Amino acid sequence: MSDVGRSAHWENVYKTKGEREVSWFQQHPAPSLDLIALTGVSARAAIIDIGGGASRLVDALVERQTGQITILDLSKMALDAAKARLGNKAANVRWEVADVTKWDPAQAYELWHDRAAFHFLTSPADQSAYVDRLKKALASGGYVIIGTFALDGPERCSGLPIVRHDAASLSEILGTDFKLIDARRHDHATPWGALQRFQFSTFRRN
Ligand SMILES: C[S@@+](CC[C@H](N)C(=O)[O-])C[C@H]1O[C@@H](n2cnc3c(N)ncnc32)[C@H](O)[C@@H]1O
Repeated sequence: MSDVGRSAHWENVYKTKGEREVSWFQQHPAPSLDLIALTGVSARAAIIDIGGGASRLVDALVERQTGQITILDLSKMALDAAKARLGNKAANVRWEVADVTKWDPAQAYELWHDRAAFHFLTSPADQSAYVDRLKKALASGGYVIIGTFALDGPERCSGLPIVRHDAASLSEILGTDFKLIDARRHDHATPWGALQRFQFSTFRRN
């Protein structure tokens, strides 16, 4: 998909669908919060959510973090929806409209979180561009949490083809700089009750 096509797809999704009309909606992002807690990063840590969209993860992060919180997404409309929901608290968050594969990180982060964004990168070139940005943005000793559809999960998301992963395939793509510290599965229930098998892998940068 071209850069324009990718961006237009996501703007259209957030323009035409309400929060509970997208399969990935979670009222409470418990799997992500459990893994962030597992890393033990402090409340002062700088955290970035890649492809955060309009997710409610940021609502929980603004309550627990005093460090910089950044939400990056291709869709301005998605970020505007999250900002509107947060009200005054949105000012405590840095909002970046960018394609992660082309983004130039302006600061270092101690934790990188991605739920259901990486799996849209179907080409080795895009995956490698993602890892380049990760390496530029993540401090040494920092943590990476990546949630994608599992090997027995759906083959498409939001009408787009995706690549399913497990911890081994992610380890291979991230390379030897990253050590796997946790791998777990999660069955996500969509707002209409369908089950989607996810996997979450957590790595620490050496
Ligand atoms: C399936 S949604 C998941 C949203 C959010 N992470 C959540 O868990 O609710 C995927 C998100 O990734 C964003 N996205 C897709 N490709 C991206 C890219 N190359 N760079 C940045 N964001 C991207 C989309 O705009 C969308 O908000």
